[in-house]
Amino acid sequence: SPVKVTKICCIGAGYVGGPTCSVIALKCPHIRVTIVDLNQARIDAWNSDDFNLPIYEPGLEDVVRQARGRNLFFSTDVDKAIEEADLIFVSVNTPTKKSGVGAGFAADLNYVELATRRIATIARSNKIVVEKSTVPCRTAESMRTILEANSKPNCRFDILSNPEFLAEGTAMTDLFKPDRVLIGSLQTPEGISACQSLAQVYANWVPKECILTVGLWSSELSKLAANAMLAQRISSINALSAICEATGANIDEVSNAVGYDTRIGPKFLKASVGFGGSCFQKDILNLVYLSESLHLPEVAAYWRQVVDMNEYQKRRFSQRVVDTLFKTITGKRIAVLGFAFKADTGDTRESAAITLIKDFLSERAFVNVYDPKVVHEQIWMDLQEASPLVPLDNIKKQVTISPSAFEAAQGADAIVIATEWKEFRDIDWERLYKGMNKPAFVFDGRLLVDAEKLTKIGFKVTTIGRPSPLLT
Ligand code: UDX
Ligand code: UDX
Ligand code: ADP
Repeated sequence: SPVKVTKICCIGAGYVGGPTCSVIALKCPHIRVTIVDLNQARIDAWNSDDFNLPIYEPGLEDVVRQARGRNLFFSTDVDKAIEEADLIFVSVNTPTKKSGVGAGFAADLNYVELATRRIATIARSNKIVVEKSTVPCRTAESMRTILEANSKPNCRFDILSNPEFLAEGTAMTDLFKPDRVLIGSLQTPEGISACQSLAQVYANWVPKECILTVGLWSSELSKLAANAMLAQRISSINALSAICEATGANIDEVSNAVGYDTRIGPKFLKASVGFGGSCFQKDILNLVYLSESLHLPEVAAYWRQVVDMNEYQKRRFSQRVVDTLFKTITGKRIAVLGFAFKADTGDTRESAAITLIKDFLSERAFVNVYDPKVVHEQIWMDLQEASPLVPLDNIKKQVTISPSAFEAAQGADAIVIATEWKEFRDIDWERLYKGMNKPAFVFDGRLLVDAEKLTKIGFKVTTIGRPSPLLT
């Protein structure tokens, strides 16, 4: 019968491991959960007296306040936590490889491998090892090979795949009420039994019918597939937004009409300046690489197009800004509202705002940028990384980080909305208008503001997926 889990170790205290295992601790007071990381500063932040946690996520602090010190612990003592646990989540980072075979596409599995080898070295009793990071298919198989080749007598390892589907900004609700929990295992008696052990952990708060158990490879592929299909919806709607702009159709009306079809559904059909975030592009490129390694070039090309369309959407948007501002923005000042890749997060990974600002800078415009959550240092790091050949001092001559939307708009020729922060919809647009050069332009990359209201104030408003206003 399945082992009853009493001690869990989570290797990796990042965006995935931290929130996920905090919620497990909250919902399973009878299980002792230890989250470990090699990064001392990160662990210190998780342990800080004033709960100044290393990641911003609505509702997370509340969960950590309730569970920390009770049955939830954060530590850098990786070996001790491995030794004590009967179940270990591997939740380390898997960035896209920067060099070597598959550079730019394949996942860098070095961190996963190092963590796995550590488990093999330290373990002296049976362990269920759960792959939680997003990784290409068959990673679990490699983990199994490493563990089996290094295991000691009377020490068995069972490998599970348990991908995480939380989205940033809504991680807590996603974890409390997941659409589904997916667990993959080998279809052997031992594999199925390990799968039941983990299912019992989730069953403390997730309804049984939402816990799906499948084969190891199906589980790994489902995670890549879910992200690829979500991103594909956005690229599809963004491709249609280009047709709308050229024809006079309105993308909001089109998405609404399309989404009414219950086979399609209304969610995730919002046209935008392009998707960002740490997962979509990375996972699709993984899928592309996987398809190519399996000698399926047509499949690779199909998914590749989702990323290409996203790049096109970002470029198309910055080009439209230039065209509308009488074909030149040299020396003009552009206020970019929002720098995070979506609202309610301070995360900027792959944010469309980075590409837009880079484009504006290469047209030799000045940029004022304002975001309510992103820390300034992060903005400078991202802009430097996007233009590695330009000295940071030169970037700083062209870019100003503003303390508010109002100040960003002062003396600007145009406002570009790059992130759908709610506060941008509710600001005093009349006041912004007064401080701007005329004609004053707004480019809404997020379908956020009421274009008619802004037009009445005097703005020339350009919206994604709608024809450009006639400039009189
Ligand atoms: C995503 C998946 O949603 C989640 O299930 C997975 O576990 C991790 O990857 P995340 O990247 O955190 O989550 O955010 P998500 O809400 O999916 O948004 C991704 C990007 O798509 C953002 O830049 C967002 O602004 C954009 N987006 C989303 C659109 O442009 N239009 C939409 O309709 C939805
Ligand atoms: C389609 C649209 O569904 C309908 O709304 C529109 O008005 C006309 O086009 P139809 O072509 O009659 O309707 O049939 P549909 O059920 O959509 O199937 C189209 C094809 O897709 C069939 O060959 C079907 O076998 C195939 N299909 C459908 C799949 O291969 N997989 C699926 O999951 C669904
Ligand atoms: P994700 O978004 O997938 O959670 P993050 O980069 O936010 O990724 O977090 C991954 C964490 O894993 C980092 O804090 C990193 O220090 C940690 N980590 C990587 N390798 C190891 C390891 N071998 N042992 C412990 N922690 C590790």
